[in-house]
Amino acid sequence: MEDLDPTYIQAPEHRSDSNFIPNQPEEIPVIDLSRLDDPEDVQNVISEIGDACEKWGFFQVLNHGVPSDARQRVEKTVKMFFDLPMEEKIKVKRDDVNPVGYHDGEHTKNVKDWKEVFDIYFKDPMVIPSTTDPEDEGLRLVYNKWPQSPSDFREACEVYARHAEKLAFKLLELISLSLGLPKERFHDYFKEQMSFFRINRYPPCPRPDLALGVGHHKDADVISLLAQDDVGGLQVSRRSDGVWFPIRPVPNALVINIGNCMEIWTNDKYWSAEHRVVVNTTRERYSIPFFLLPSHDVEVKPLEELVSPENPPRYKGYKWGKFYVSRNRSDFRKLEIENIQIDDFKVKT
Ligand code: OGA
Ligand code: NI
Repeated sequence: MEDLDPTYIQAPEHRSDSNFIPNQPEEIPVIDLSRLDDPEDVQNVISEIGDACEKWGFFQVLNHGVPSDARQRVEKTVKMFFDLPMEEKIKVKRDDVNPVGYHDGEHTKNVKDWKEVFDIYFKDPMVIPSTTDPEDEGLRLVYNKWPQSPSDFREACEVYARHAEKLAFKLLELISLSLGLPKERFHDYFKEQMSFFRINRYPPCPRPDLALGVGHHKDADVISLLAQDDVGGLQVSRRSDGVWFPIRPVPNALVINIGNCMEIWTNDKYWSAEHRVVVNTTRERYSIPFFLLPSHDVEVKPLEELVSPENPPRYKGYKWGKFYVSRNRSDFRKLEIENIQIDDFKVKT
């Protein structure tokens, strides 16, 4: 066996074999959105989405409206980019001023992930707070980085992202309806949305028993829409007991999951599940998540309509932009302490 750089080694309780029971009969739901064309079926689709958000925090969608040629084009062009020599890739490397572009050393909970990534803001430029200081109202603009080669990288990504964003809002409306809220309840939170998307490449790994492609984590966003190839490796922890389940690759499907903002808005009715990526010794894997994020000035706290004297708010509010800038500083280097987590905002009972 080859040696593995110790920075990649997961603690024993977080490795790929922990709490994973193969061949479970249950599966994460796959929902066909073409059923929305049948007026008699719309309500069923909405309640299936609601049930999945409550029970798993994850589901997959088919016939979702993101064209497969847009997806194939982006998959092809990003492979060409990742296959370039390192000296080319680091020309568009992430830095402190504009924390997007290429990066190969992300830490999740202070252990290094076995992956390379490329991050792209949906809005270019994007508005974010200048500092983490809660008193400081200053804002700044951040800009995407684009590689020179392959030449259609930018356009392929922008076209795909526009489709993904459209689907994100459609899902947001369905989720709103599933909560008994007006369809557009959440829309105002996205006037200066901070959404971004990411291309993940997980190279073959000599020790998939010790390292992970992404360590266990919850997404901090509202919802994530993920295109994965046919290799597999994404796993989700079941809400009821924490057992890990694979998210089976389904051709042309997108994987949808609830992030922390939605979990907090719904006062824990909907679940933001822990998930992780298991790697393997032979095949590289690609995935493309689109993370739907609110505007920097949105206060994330339980919605008034969803709290009551019997169901009091479980979280204090926090300003989304300030959370993002604090998190972003700590994500890409190892810190002596754990970075901020959503549980830090839980109301102590
Ligand atoms: C992520 C993530 C899963 C995957 O990037 O946050 O969970 O399958 N990715 O790549
Ligand atoms: Ni994730």
